[in-house]
Amino acid sequence: MEAAEKEEISVKDEAVDKNIFRDCNRIAFYRRQKQWLSKKSTYQVLLDSVTTVEDSTRFQIINEASKVPLLAEIYGIEGNIFRLKINEESPLKPRYEVPDVLTSKPSTVRLIPCSGDTGSLILADEKGDLKCHITANPFKVDLVSEEEVVMSINSLGQLYFEHLQILHKQRTAKENEEETSVDTSQENQEDLGLWEEKFGKFVDIKANGPSSIGLDFSLHEFEHLYGIPQHAESHQLKNTEDGDAYRLYNLDVYGYQIYDKMGIYGSVPYLLAHKLGRTIGIFWLNASETLVEINTEPAVEYTLTQIGPVAAKQKARSRTHVHWMSESGIIDFFMLTGPTPSDVFRQYSRLTGTQAMPPLFSLGYHQCRWNYEDEQDVKAVDAGFDEHDIPYDAMWLDIEHTEGKRYFTWDKKRFPNPKKMQELLRSKKRKLVVISDPHIKIDPDYSVYVKAKEQGFFVRNQEGEDFEGVCWPGLSSYLDFTNPKVREWYSSLFSFPVYQGSTDILFLWNDMNEPSVFRGPEQTMQKDAIHHGNWEHRELHNIYGFYHQMATAEGLIQRSKGKERPFVLTRSFFAGSQKYGAVWTGDNTAEWSYLKISIPMLLTLSITGISFCGADIGGFIGNPETELLVRWYQAGAYQPFFRGHATMNTKRREPWLFGEEHTRLIREAIRERYGLLPYWYSLFYHAHVASQPVMRPLWVEFPNELKTFDVEDEYMLGSALLVHPVTEPKATTVDVFLPGSNEVWYDCKTFAYWEGGCTVKIPVALDTIPVFQRGGSVVPIKTTVGKSTGWMTESSYGLRVALSTKGSSVGELYLDDGHSFQYLHQQQFLHRKFSFCSSVLINSSADQRGHYPSKCVVEQILVLGLRKEPSSVITHSSDGKDQPVAFMYCAKTSTLSLKKLSLNIATDWEVRII
Ligand code: NOJ
Repeated sequence: MEAAEKEEISVKDEAVDKNIFRDCNRIAFYRRQKQWLSKKSTYQVLLDSVTTVEDSTRFQIINEASKVPLLAEIYGIEGNIFRLKINEESPLKPRYEVPDVLTSKPSTVRLIPCSGDTGSLILADEKGDLKCHITANPFKVDLVSEEEVVMSINSLGQLYFEHLQILHKQRTAKENEEETSVDTSQENQEDLGLWEEKFGKFVDIKANGPSSIGLDFSLHEFEHLYGIPQHAESHQLKNTEDGDAYRLYNLDVYGYQIYDKMGIYGSVPYLLAHKLGRTIGIFWLNASETLVEINTEPAVEYTLTQIGPVAAKQKARSRTHVHWMSESGIIDFFMLTGPTPSDVFRQYSRLTGTQAMPPLFSLGYHQCRWNYEDEQDVKAVDAGFDEHDIPYDAMWLDIEHTEGKRYFTWDKKRFPNPKKMQELLRSKKRKLVVISDPHIKIDPDYSVYVKAKEQGFFVRNQEGEDFEGVCWPGLSSYLDFTNPKVREWYSSLFSFPVYQGSTDILFLWNDMNEPSVFRGPEQTMQKDAIHHGNWEHRELHNIYGFYHQMATAEGLIQRSKGKERPFVLTRSFFAGSQKYGAVWTGDNTAEWSYLKISIPMLLTLSITGISFCGADIGGFIGNPETELLVRWYQAGAYQPFFRGHATMNTKRREPWLFGEEHTRLIREAIRERYGLLPYWYSLFYHAHVASQPVMRPLWVEFPNELKTFDVEDEYMLGSALLVHPVTEPKATTVDVFLPGSNEVWYDCKTFAYWEGGCTVKIPVALDTIPVFQRGGSVVPIKTTVGKSTGWMTESSYGLRVALSTKGSSVGELYLDDGHSFQYLHQQQFLHRKFSFCSSVLINSSADQRGHYPSKCVVEQILVLGLRKEPSSVITHSSDGKDQPVAFMYCAKTSTLSLKKLSLNIATDWEVRII
């Protein structure tokens, strides 16, 4: 271990040092906006400037004090979305507009000007249901849906726009006088960080002065807001205090503090607001440091002054104000008008893309630690899983597998024969995942460094030289992934001949890509570092990790000549990262509170498009007590990305190291995960094609039930399963809220059932994972579990049919080869639909386009909630043949069980209960 690294690790062993990171009051653009807003200077639309240019309506806005014109553009976008962009009309130089996040140029719809009063402009969509009502003075936009104002923009007058200026030293005295938007008096300059901003020993030089922007949104009658990951915070967004806004700034925060609004590894500047009857979204497309303030004003009823004999009462609707502030760039946001949660999910994915369809193996269990020492260690751990009959799919290697943290290389002593090691894993139908970070060791003998240097592929410093910072390898330079040429080159490094020792079972893990720079300001890169196109790092900080994962995923696709789906896990992310793979919640701690907070953190990621997310099982930092580890496996088995991981100075914690009983419990949890893989895979397909999150907060499934709006200790997987992980030590019961007054819920183990709309106390032992199936659903499972997903392709299916109060249910199964793109290009997939109605279960095609030659059979069917014992059960095949089948009925639990069936999954058939 090198000196720099040792020092870094010992620094990192302590709890989060808040002095390393800035709070709002130490962020100059926050202070400037606050100071300026207290002056209440307003903006006005120049109505005679309104024009329609191609697909947008444009007009000028002018601040009464600065008089510098801004140009606003409004677009209607297909799918009931509005976009508003505000930029300087003629900036000194172009301001940064975030590229590469929108999947394509959004298809616009024509907005029709409608007559309004003088002093306003009204633009309607073609149906006339949705309108943007723009008031000229002071500037305000109301989003109106069916005559109801849903959201108002700038109604608090917080529009803020700092204009780029020529370098301070080059300005004339007159120009200095003219600057009016912020107080530039000498004593204030330093405090407001106009031209330079100090933080500890760091000085950030701002070439064109302050450049921040801001705007307020008032969401009428909305009191429940969600989104803007990533924070270790509650699922429902809280009202912010002065100086304690939600911060979106990607940072490496080891052992981050929980219930805190500081920025951690990734940012998605997108929030959803929900009320009874409506869900909406705001997507703020800006990649610079961003702060979000939230402030709910409750409804008030007040009495008007009594004039006549009866005093009039008036009610003011509740509203929530959202104030976005970004350090740089332009104002560019999308209003997603819903009205349902599913509509908002679709609207957002129309803009940023859907979750990539994961290879099946990646939904299995992953075994990681920093580090698996050598090939022997890998072999032994791999064998341990077989010995203890625990399924797993991927072995992971952290940074120590490389030659001195030179990514794309192998430590020759520890890993002399990486291909042989992969062949061993392949023989077990398992995979290998290795790490590749964005910092590149400065070493003239390291070919990746040499080639990147030669081609000018590193981020540069103010002097025009390669930026240098310290990370795991010691002094490093950082690849500039914002440059398409760098991405192209980086992708090519994954090709088999170039990446020596790699095979097609090797997949990738991108870490430290905030980017993490030890001893840098807030452990990251200076904001005045320079990227491709001469953009400063400040403009695009939050999107750096997004590009890293994009290039890696592209590399994996290319190495297979476009045939195979990639798997890439990233720590840092931005809006749209879902297109490239999975995300995890970074360096959590082995404490119960971190297990608990993993649920809201993952729910927030899930509703902001990132379905494939997970938290390190067991907690990365520290040694979990055995009970906590077991509970974490049980919770993780029901979260989308399922990986055990631990930092280097922790005790080994492979699942069999805690005594036979605990090994059994962990085995059971992992096996439950594998049993449910057909359901998981089908949910991921649904996320991929229909934009619906895999892991869902209860309010998404029960949007009309107020009581669900702040639930974060339980959640839905798809629409069929409700999971309430045990997150307290020594629990003997958990209180499970079962929503929906017309619903019925079945305990997945005991088959006990409850009517919805109540909270039930469920007794729990250490082997209990409280999971409930919703009446009205059919969940496909596998009846036997193999060593890994690869061993289960041929194994039989089971169907768990849970009847609704009306005695019916529906469900789906999606399957394909689990690894290639043939589902997309050759329609090689099966999508089946199961429906149970009038005592008949029907298996039919859900999508006629798909075909896949599966020989798998449905071997078991379990019907939950069947109140009457049948006299016979008959299977009816599509060729007209009827066959009686044996059945078992349990009157106590009202369950019907059919076993030893042999019904091909791919063909149409019926099971008739008589
Ligand atoms: C930080 C990551 O969050 C952690 O998971 C990893 O083990 C270490 N870096 C070492 O690569």
